[in-house]
Amino acid sequence: MRIVLLGAPGAGKGTQCKKIIAEYGLEHLSSGDILRQQRAAGTELGKKAQSYMDSGALVPDDVIVGMMVDAITKISDGGFVLDGFPRTVNQARELDKALKAAGNKIDVVINLEVDDDAIARRITGRRSCPKCGAVYHVENMKPLVEGKCDNDGVDLVQRPDDTLEVVKNRLKNYHEQTAPVVGYYRENNTVSDIDANGNPDAVNESVLGMLKAFSVSQNE
Ligand code: AP5
Repeated sequence: MRIVLLGAPGAGKGTQCKKIIAEYGLEHLSSGDILRQQRAAGTELGKKAQSYMDSGALVPDDVIVGMMVDAITKISDGGFVLDGFPRTVNQARELDKALKAAGNKIDVVINLEVDDDAIARRITGRRSCPKCGAVYHVENMKPLVEGKCDNDGVDLVQRPDDTLEVVKNRLKNYHEQTAPVVGYYRENNTVSDIDANGNPDAVNESVLGMLKAFSVSQNE
């Protein structure tokens, strides 16, 4: 399956991706994670992306499209979940073009819907492990020991773009530039809207139920 997971910043895309890949054995391709890896490695691409990410702006399409198409091409069996990409209609068109050239297409588009108020609380309360990447929340998904990663005991950190001020900009950019991507997919694919205001397990039940129904329909 080739899945696109859409949703506002902090809607729970990364959280749900981990559960989808555990169930279906797909590759998880997060544009944000790849950009953060590039920044940590000090690459030219990472340096170009830095100021955009820190202010909550989108990194230009010409940087993102090549990076993501390259990552998709490296997947041998072709099954993946895209998290954070595409984020503009132009990125979605370029993705479709690249997949078509390889004889492929997006099979499932999932749109996580969350109220903006909940988004701000989710993002400002997020903490992550700099070593293994595990994600927590100070209220909703607490680690066993406050401030420490359950997997390796490392001190949890807050992403620099997870402040309230930057979140406002990320949400503004989402509504202006990314929400139209949902419309793009509605014209060409079936989009499954999921109410993602509930707790992570409830959202996961809806997502996996939808994917199971899709798999069954493909095998009929
Ligand atoms: P990116 O890293 O993609 O950030 P994002 O889309 O803003 O998404 P997040 O990672 O913040 O949130 P998420 O939806 O994965 O939520 P999570 O599961 O962690 O992008 C960062 C930056 O990179 C962008 O601003 C841009 O500059 C650049 N960029 C990336 N891709 C780009 C592209 N394609 N084009 C241009 N620029 C690009 O959950 C959030 C928190 O909520 C966690 O603490 C979690 O524990 C908690 N939580 C999750 N689900 C629930 C729930 N159901 N109930 C309660 N709490 C929950």
